[in-house]
Amino acid sequence: MLWSLLFITLIGRSTQQDPVTSSGCSPGWETIKLDDKVAFQSSFYTDNGVNYTADRALDGNITRCSHTLPTEPISWWTVDLLGLYEISCITIYNINQSNVDLRGARILIGNSSERNASDTTECATINTTTKGENNTFNCENGPKWGRYVTVYKNTPGLVILCEVTMKGRKKEPFKLIKENKTWEDALYHCREEHMDLVSILDKETQGWVGLEAQKADTPFVWLGLHYSCTLDLWFWVDDHCVGFDRWAPDETRTADCSMSGAMNTSGNHLWYKKSVYDKYNFICAV
Ligand SMILES: *[C@@H]1O[C@H](CO)[C@@H](O)[C@H](O)[C@H]1NC(C)=O
Ligand SMILES: *[C@@H]1O[C@H](CO)[C@@H](O)[C@H](O)[C@H]1NC(C)=O
Ligand SMILES: *[C@@H]1O[C@H](CO)[C@@H](O)[C@H](O)[C@H]1NC(C)=O
Ligand SMILES: *[C@@H]1O[C@H](CO)[C@@H](O)[C@H](O)[C@H]1NC(C)=O
Ligand SMILES: *[C@@H]1O[C@H](CO)[C@@H](O)[C@H](O)[C@H]1NC(C)=O
Ligand SMILES: *[C@@H]1O[C@H](CO)[C@@H](O)[C@H](O)[C@H]1NC(C)=O
Ligand SMILES: *[C@@H]1O[C@H](CO)[C@@H](O)[C@H](O)[C@H]1NC(C)=O
Ligand SMILES: *[C@@H]1O[C@H](CO)[C@@H](O)[C@H](O)[C@H]1NC(C)=O
Ligand SMILES: *[C@@H]1O[C@H](CO)[C@@H](O)[C@H](O)[C@H]1NC(C)=O
Repeated sequence: MLWSLLFITLIGRSTQQDPVTSSGCSPGWETIKLDDKVAFQSSFYTDNGVNYTADRALDGNITRCSHTLPTEPISWWTVDLLGLYEISCITIYNINQSNVDLRGARILIGNSSERNASDTTECATINTTTKGENNTFNCENGPKWGRYVTVYKNTPGLVILCEVTMKGRKKEPFKLIKENKTWEDALYHCREEHMDLVSILDKETQGWVGLEAQKADTPFVWLGLHYSCTLDLWFWVDDHCVGFDRWAPDETRTADCSMSGAMNTSGNHLWYKKSVYDKYNFICAV
C-alpha cells in the first residue's frame, strides 16, 4: 500500500518536472479564462493606425498579435490574473515571421507587477523561437503560485505574442461573504465554516483582501480587527498583534467600546473603525 503510494508520488513528480517541451501541458489542469484579464507590456508598436497592445495576446484570435517596440534593451509582456493562481503551464502561439524569436526569454510568475521583485519566480526559459506553432512550457519543478505572468526578454529584440493561453487553478484563501451582518455575526459565520474573519499582517495580504473587497455590495467589509476598550488595544481575532496597518489618515487609534475594523471596498482599501452593530459584507480566510 505504502509502496504503491510512493510509486504514484514519484510518477506524479516526474511528470511535474517535465522540462520545457512543445508537447503539451501535464494533464489534469484547466484552461484559465484570460479574455477578462488585464495585460500590459513595456511598449507597443503602431502600424497603420493599429496599436499592437498587450491585450491582443489574450483575445482568442491568433491573427491579432501584441508587439513591443524593437528599440528596448529589455522587453516584457505581463498579464494580471486579478487573483492568486497555481499555474502549471503556458502555451504561446506566434506568427511565423523573421522578427519573431523568443529564445532566451523567461516566463516569470509573481505576486507583484515588478518583474525583478523577490516575490517573482521563474516558471521556464523559452528555448524555441515560437514561430508558427503552439509551444507549451511547463513550469520547471512543478506549478508556481502567483498573480502576474510575465514574458521577460532582457536581450535585444522584441516580444511578439499572437496568443497566450495557460493552465492552472484559482486559489482562494480569502472568501467574500455577500451577506450583511453585524461584526459578531460575521465572526460566527466564518467560524461555522471552519474559517476566521481575515487578519491582514502584510502588504501582500492587504492586496489580496482588497481585490476581494471590490466585489462587495456594501461600502465597507468587516475584517477580523477588534478593539478592546479595557486594554485600549486593537487586535486581530486570530490573536495576532497589529503590526502592519492601513488605517485611513484621519482615523484616530483610540475608539469607543464596541468598535471593530472595516476595510473601504474602494480606493486604496484603507481601514476604518465602525460600530460592531453596523451590517456589512465580510471576508473570511481559511
Ligand atoms: C528545449 O529544452 C528541452 C529541455 O529543457 C529540450 O528537451 C528541448 O530539446 C529543447 N528544445 C530546443 C529547440 O532546443
Ligand atoms: C494608439 O495609441 C495612441 C497613444 O499612443 C492613441 O493616441 C491612439 O488613440 C491609439 N489608437 C487607437 C486606434 O487606439
Ligand atoms: C481575427 O482578427 C482578424 C484581424 O483583425 C479579423 O479579420 C478576424 O475577423 C478576426 N477573427 C475573429 C474570429 O474575430
Ligand atoms: C527593480 O527594478 C526597478 C526599476 O527597473 C528598480 O528601481 C528596483 O530597484 C529593482 N528592484 C530590485 C529588487 O532589484
Ligand atoms: C504568491 O503569494 C502566495 C500566497 O501568499 C504564495 O503562496 C506564493 O508562493 C507567492 N508566489 C511567489 C512567486 O512568491
Ligand atoms: C516558417 O516559415 C519558414 C519560411 O517560410 C518555413 O521554412 C518554416 O517551415 C515555417 N515554420 C513553421 C513552423 O511553419
Ligand atoms: C494552436 O492552438 C489553437 C488553440 O488554442 C488552435 O486553434 C490552433 O490551430 C493551434 N495552431 C497550431 C499551428 O497548432
Ligand atoms: C446589503 O446592503 C447593501 C446596502 O448597504 C444592499 O445594497 C445589499 O442589497 C444588501 N445585501 C443583502 C444580501 O441584503
Ligand atoms: C472610500 O474610498 C473612496 C475612494 O478612495 C473614497 O471616495 C471614499 O470617501 C472612502 N470612504 C470613506 C468613508 O472615506
